[in-house]
Amino acid sequence: MSTIAKADFDYICELVYKRSAIVLEPGKEYLVQSRLVSVASQNGCMSLAELVTRLRTQPAGKLSQAVIEAMTTNETSFFRDMYPFEALKKTVIPELLAKRGSDPQLTIWCAAASAGQEPYSIALLLRESFPQIPKNNIRIIATDINTEVLTHAREGIYSQIEVNRGLPISMLLRHFEKSGANWQIREDIRQMVDFRECNLIQVWPLIPPVDILFMRNVLIYFDQETKKAILAKVRKALKPDGVFFLGGAETTMNLDDNFERVQLEKTACYRIR
Ligand SMILES: C[S@@+](CC[C@H](N)C(=O)[O-])C[C@H]1O[C@@H](n2cnc3c(N)ncnc32)[C@H](O)[C@@H]1O
Repeated sequence: MSTIAKADFDYICELVYKRSAIVLEPGKEYLVQSRLVSVASQNGCMSLAELVTRLRTQPAGKLSQAVIEAMTTNETSFFRDMYPFEALKKTVIPELLAKRGSDPQLTIWCAAASAGQEPYSIALLLRESFPQIPKNNIRIIATDINTEVLTHAREGIYSQIEVNRGLPISMLLRHFEKSGANWQIREDIRQMVDFRECNLIQVWPLIPPVDILFMRNVLIYFDQETKKAILAKVRKALKPDGVFFLGGAETTMNLDDNFERVQLEKTACYRIR
């Protein structure tokens, strides 16, 4: 594998930061090299140096988009961390339904949804545990910066290894069908999720005020200023009594005092004070 020169590494870090806010610190040279070698070869570049030379001449084109996408970490799984989903089922959704009256409308947004396991987990939970809510009253929007993972998410096709991670076998059998060696989530569940591109540091798509916002395991890649700016936008996107979930290693503390942390059994969510 070709190694990356310091000036080229610095250029990639700056490009990725400007376009996605992802912070790549010194010491991440190996990560950059390993992720970009295939981008270089797929685009006919003989080395990372040649890739960077091409990026310098066309910093806003498809090649730079491929570089940004390659530098995102898309790790996810069905019902990841489990407890937030238990909280949705036992507390959050029952409380929202009680407040919303006889014809409840729920808007749920999974921001940074990667390949779809997270929003589909919410769709499956709603279908199985709240069948009384008419489908048309549920709106699940799932967004990500990475167009490749969004394509995967819209297809809803997962490998055996992916479905083995967190998805109960009963749900697999009820809501997926075989697609060669893989499994495809059935159309009725796929139709519940509207996948769209959204870069969290750019203008957000027009979404109705949100009841439940999942923004898990993405703020960890950003610096303090970016986190603060995104949290300020989250407050505007949420309904006044909306519920906000972050990843297990993330918090609003020392970033935005307008949120209060609400402990829900083995997990926590945030609400606007
Ligand atoms: C580790 S995954 C988290 C997936 C899912 N939320 C979960 O917790 O399982 C992080 C996701 O954030 C996305 N991401 C990174 N930077 C982003 C940005 N600036 N705007 C929107 N999404 C971004 C990546 O493409 C990736 O899919």
